[in-house]
Amino acid sequence: MKFKEIKNSIYYCGLNDCDRKIFDELIPLECGTSYNSYLVKGSEKIALIDTMYPPKTQEYLKNLDENNITHVDYIIANHGEQDHSGSIPALLEKYPEAVVVTNAVCKGNIKEMLLVDDSKIKVIANDEELSLGDKTLKFILAPGVHWPDTMFTYIKEDNVICTCDFLGAHYTFDDVFADDSKELEHSAKRYYAEIMMPFRAMCKKYTKLVSDLKPDMILPSHGPIYKNPDFILDLYSDWSADEGKNLVLMPYVSMYGSTEEMIDYLKEKLEKKNISVKKFDIVTGDLGDLAMGLVDATTIVLGSSMVLAGPHPMAFNIAYLAGILRPKAKCATFVGSYGWGGNLFGKLGEMLAGLKLDVIQPLLVKGKVKEEDYKKLDEMVEQIYEKHKSLNLL
Ligand code: FEO
Repeated sequence: MKFKEIKNSIYYCGLNDCDRKIFDELIPLECGTSYNSYLVKGSEKIALIDTMYPPKTQEYLKNLDENNITHVDYIIANHGEQDHSGSIPALLEKYPEAVVVTNAVCKGNIKEMLLVDDSKIKVIANDEELSLGDKTLKFILAPGVHWPDTMFTYIKEDNVICTCDFLGAHYTFDDVFADDSKELEHSAKRYYAEIMMPFRAMCKKYTKLVSDLKPDMILPSHGPIYKNPDFILDLYSDWSADEGKNLVLMPYVSMYGSTEEMIDYLKEKLEKKNISVKKFDIVTGDLGDLAMGLVDATTIVLGSSMVLAGPHPMAFNIAYLAGILRPKAKCATFVGSYGWGGNLFGKLGEMLAGLKLDVIQPLLVKGKVKEEDYKKLDEMVEQIYEKHKSLNLL
């Protein structure tokens, strides 16, 4: 594969992985992913910015050969996670003259995870620069988007910035440049939801930092290159904002139909009050869809049947996931039904405690939903409505 020149001797040398169906063994990939690597040829030195996912190493090395890359001076490691750093040991064998350039935190990770020797790693500080001759790499430490070791590499003369995982998308492509399509927006949002949302405050900070640089292009380490940086920066500004949308997210699992009946009743009543609702079947739904709902939702209503005197394990899983993804939701409640007894909401509430949500009185019914239960659901609707109104969402 011939490397594509992105701008003035900066080349894309990454690879698509169309067959990858799941990332982190957690959330399915709809469009595969790409592992981006960039070759920067200065007048005096050559650098590779980020490398390759280990199973793709041989293909990556073969492509370097086919493009006659016989010498590399620097391997820039923007992040230690192995989908970007995994090929460093093989590269050091191929190019023994090369030095890995990274920050102190990433150095520790690379040493532990890839067993790279100290002598092969040059540590740089925030804002430090490295000359390639007619090009200068400037390193911007960006801890928190999404690992403590993350940094960006800014190529000064060309005004392009490699932002590592930040601003990326699990997306494959023929043309390396983003088409700013709805499909790409969808993938970028899904990626943000799964990977960046827990670090929303840092996302806000670094969205501003990148915006202030006014780069000509953004080169992420997954997904296409943004020739129009505002496309992704505007989306990140929206997703990382403190304010949620006028949306209630309703994940539920219902064994005999009562829980789903309550969810459907709430959905109908809330929509009549002009509140959007996203119903999510925990058993058949895609976790990426749930995560995307969490990006926008102001209220979460979690529905669960009781299993062996506690929440259904799949509801438990969702509460745990919502807790660690740290969405911006402000309000929550629970509905559920039981057969013979138990504590349905205590442990679910504990899972979400870290989100500091206003919790509306939950509703637990035995068996079928009854007349008095509908009245309680109506009260729940009113409270959600008032909450959204108080947040100026209506
Ligand atoms: Fe794409 Fe954090 O690695």
